[in-house]
Amino acid sequence: MILFGASGHAKVILDILNSGTNTEVSYILDDNPAITELAGFKVDHDIERNIVQDINTIIAIGDNRIRKHIFMKYNVKLNKALIHNRAVVSDNALVSNGSVVMAGAVINHSANIGENSIINSNAVIEHDVSIANFAHISPGAIITGGVQIGEGTHIGAGVSVIPGVKIGKWVTVGAGAVIIKDVPDYAVVVGNPGNIIKYNNTNDDKR
Ligand SMILES: CC(C)(COP(=O)(O)OP(=O)(O)OC[C@H]1O[C@@H](n2cnc3c(N)ncnc32)[C@H](O)[C@@H]1OP(=O)(O)O)[C@@H](O)C(=O)NCCC(=O)NCCS
Repeated sequence: MILFGASGHAKVILDILNSGTNTEVSYILDDNPAITELAGFKVDHDIERNIVQDINTIIAIGDNRIRKHIFMKYNVKLNKALIHNRAVVSDNALVSNGSVVMAGAVINHSANIGENSIINSNAVIEHDVSIANFAHISPGAIITGGVQIGEGTHIGAGVSVIPGVKIGKWVTVGAGAVIIKDVPDYAVVVGNPGNIIKYNNTNDDKR
């Protein structure tokens, strides 16, 4: 497998691989020529050549917009999700290809996680939750039953979302927020109860 992106996020993904997934990293790709090594792995910079050679790639970039940009630009092929051995994922939940699930995360019955998403350490994804592609659920966030989260949305650390709420696409929810009602596309929400303070750039996801 190739990891695309030699960042701190990639180190956490290496921990997933080392947790007993029987998957090995061949090398790490990054477009920054100054980075030559990460956690003992060689970092290669010939992206065009390598991306077509190995169909098993995880984009190890925490920023949702950059992750989507890389996916589209290089037509990255995905054929598996990476789930830490000490995450708890229901047999009746779906984690789609290209997504990663960190240590301590819980994903319950009938939850559906799209492609290229991140379920970070100790996040809880309750029953019947739907999370679209390129989302990031940060450490310790609690997404309760039936919540819907749109493409590219970033849920900050320690956020709570009450049952059944719909959060749009490319939303940012600030760390520690409590979301008690629906959130429109591109909104930036902080606080308890969550309050919109501004909007993300609507063109950001079209790069
Ligand atoms: C919400 C967030 C994206 C805003 O970042 P930003 O666009 O740079 O905004 P600013 O820092 O300029 O803050 C704007 C206002 O919101 C407030 N604010 C920012 N984050 C807040 C938060 N999490 N909770 C409550 N208020 C917050 C600031 O105090 C500021 O208020 P003011 O205008 O009255 O001074 C960021 O603060 C945040 O919480 N990011 C989540 C980080 C995270 O959880 N990462 C996980 C990585 S794994």
